[in-house]
Amino acid sequence: MLLTTAPVMFFGGKGGVGKTTVSAATAVRLAEGGARVLLVSTDPAHNLGHIWSVKLSDTATPLEPGLDVMELNPAATTERHLLQVGDSMRAMMPERMHREVDKHLELSRNSPGMHEAAMLERIAEIVGAGVDDGGYDHIIFDTAPSGHTSRLLALPELMAAYTDGLLERREKSDNFSRLARGMGGGVVEGKDDPVERRNQQIRSVLYQRRRKFEVLRGVLTDPSECVFHIVLTPERLPVMESAELYRDISSTGIRVAGLVVNRRSPDDGGEFTAARREVERGAMAQLDELLPGVERVELPWLPREIGTREALSEIAALL
Ligand SMILES: Nc1ncnc2c1ncn2[C@@H]1O[C@H](COP(=O)(O)OP(=O)(O)OP(=O)(O)O)[C@@H](O)[C@H]1O
Ligand SMILES: [Mg+2]
Repeated sequence: MLLTTAPVMFFGGKGGVGKTTVSAATAVRLAEGGARVLLVSTDPAHNLGHIWSVKLSDTATPLEPGLDVMELNPAATTERHLLQVGDSMRAMMPERMHREVDKHLELSRNSPGMHEAAMLERIAEIVGAGVDDGGYDHIIFDTAPSGHTSRLLALPELMAAYTDGLLERREKSDNFSRLARGMGGGVVEGKDDPVERRNQQIRSVLYQRRRKFEVLRGVLTDPSECVFHIVLTPERLPVMESAELYRDISSTGIRVAGLVVNRRSPDDGGEFTAARREVERGAMAQLDELLPGVERVELPWLPREIGTREALSEIAALL
């Protein structure tokens, strides 16, 4: 195995370059080597199930010795996320506001960023559980095409800042209400005070959320815990997009450890492949220039259908 491995691994890149193939082949390779592996697809257009010809779900399905696979379902994940957020919001608001909370959630169901926030929360749960109970040696994420992924991975930072802002405002309003009640006389202090109890509940909900994102961010930004590999094909546009993705992912504090250059044409002297090789030579030179010194593995363009389990072994052996 040429590419750096870590307990949490992400494979990302432009659409159609081979992310699913390479992440599945990596999972197979690691599982065959005796590791316990969880392979997770975060791409709404799932393909992992097709490779094994099984229907996968949001919970881990054991498919081979050492290998469990799951496909996150953005719609179901969003629903669950909204239920949880609804519960915490209702706990925070007085009863008369509950209808407003429901209306707000109904509107947010399709708002921009909602799917991403829900997916991130699910990723946080999976990574958190995997890290806590130590059940898996590797959790491998097959991600959606570039844009999505870098936005998704920038979120833990934002979510932690958002929760911090809320906590800070809570502190202020707690102090204020304490003061106001003090001025009104007849203060009930301590845990018997219903206002104080509600405040404690709110703070605990916010802290739990903050903690979840903090744990995730801690794992993602620790290069001994998590690495990101970019998959690309040897052509100009994927090379340029990979350089951008490299910058975006690195700026979130996540270590981009390697490049998988997939579908290299054979060097067999044929006229067509010679022309392709020339295109690829240019792209590889550009890659050297844009991302010098990043560890790299190259995979050949295989002449047969490779969306099958047998073909995966072939790719796995080449990794
Ligand atoms: N080295 C290869 N040789 C031949 N065919 C390949 C190779 N790698 C991938 N393919 C084929 O190319 C297609 C795209 O691969 P794959 O689904 O892994 O890409 P992806 O990056 O996950 O795509 P998407 O962005 O749509 O999720 C598939 O049909 C796959 O079987
Ligand atoms: Mg895919």
